[in-house]
Amino acid sequence: MIKLIKSTFNKEKATKDALCKFIKQSKQLSIGKMCSEFESKFSRWQGRKYSVMFNSGSSANLALIQVLINLKKIKEEDSVGFSAVTWATNIMPLISLKLNPIPIDIELETLNISSKKVIEAYKKNKFKFLFITNVLGYCHDIDNIKEFCKKNNILLIEDNCESLGSEYKKTKLGNFSLASTFSFYVGHHLSTIEGGMVCTDDLEIDTMLRIVRSHGMDRHLSESEQKRLRLEYKVDAFYGKFAFYDIGYNFRPTEINGFLGVNQLQYLDEMVSNREKNYKKLEKIYLNNDFIKIETTGLTKISNFAFPLICKTKNIKEKYMDIAKKTGIEIRPIVAGCINKHAFYKKHVATKHKLPNAETVHELGFYFGNNAEMTRDEINTLVRVFSK
Ligand SMILES: Cc1ncc(COP(=O)(O)O)c(C=O)c1O
Repeated sequence: MIKLIKSTFNKEKATKDALCKFIKQSKQLSIGKMCSEFESKFSRWQGRKYSVMFNSGSSANLALIQVLINLKKIKEEDSVGFSAVTWATNIMPLISLKLNPIPIDIELETLNISSKKVIEAYKKNKFKFLFITNVLGYCHDIDNIKEFCKKNNILLIEDNCESLGSEYKKTKLGNFSLASTFSFYVGHHLSTIEGGMVCTDDLEIDTMLRIVRSHGMDRHLSESEQKRLRLEYKVDAFYGKFAFYDIGYNFRPTEINGFLGVNQLQYLDEMVSNREKNYKKLEKIYLNNDFIKIETTGLTKISNFAFPLICKTKNIKEKYMDIAKKTGIEIRPIVAGCINKHAFYKKHVATKHKLPNAETVHELGFYFGNNAEMTRDEINTLVRVFSK
């Protein structure tokens, strides 16, 4: 069986042995030094000033949107443009925090939104905030999207949960925006079992992320930031550790997640490079006319954890679903398909939009895994099965 999730960790046995040892010798397993160490090492790896670890990519997304509200950068009823092919928990906070979600169609040849689609959507609805998702290690012309947002004063954030390690014109995805989110769910590029991160170069956002992550309190701020807040809000020493400054949640990771992050980070460059090598071999599948070829122009590094296939017809999709089942290849829909097709969206958002490309992905797309430890035999099987 070629499974979507091959293992819990890269170098599974060594990682589990190290984890057991860490747990046995640790006095504290709630958020502490290991989470901080992972945050600073991740910042260095990603090339961002600040990183705040969360217990999932979903909570990282919700927290970041709450931060933008707490800092009054956006407010209730503001329109938010978003990539129509995305994950459900990117959109749920927009709905629950009373923003107005505006879906933007993707380009079929990259599975991502382009500046052209952003401009078309903006002409119809002048959104103040754009929440893009870098799908499956790809992007379209994200540099032009950034430029358009800058010119029009649109606040841009990136969900980079599916593209850790990819580079567009030599800049890492996740570094094109005010802040970006990452997921370390077991099925993604780097696993802390569950986990997430927000990266930014903005100290005010970093501070508010730490407040939102931890009940609205200042526990995980630097001493100088704590002092500043306690002075500003006239909080005395007795209430210092029990003062609640703004709307928050409990989205804290544990030291187990922090330890795993530090441990797996040592393999990240190797994992990215292995996946890229696999990808170059798997790309032969696109010579098969049954599928739409995914274009990677501008991507100077492709960090892809799952290989997408968009079939040209429904019959073709059914044929390959059947073959995959018989040959033991696990497949699944591409991200969540077109988000607007899901029951939660229809229930909570009244306005309808035409999204033909996202709908094609929904109806005709699927993917299989691209694991960093995939064997040559597994790759050969995948190429053979999906090539004519
Ligand atoms: C694009 C994207 N964003 C966010 C998430 C949510 O991440 P997590 O599973 O860590 O909550 C996912 C899903 O796995 C995703 O695909």
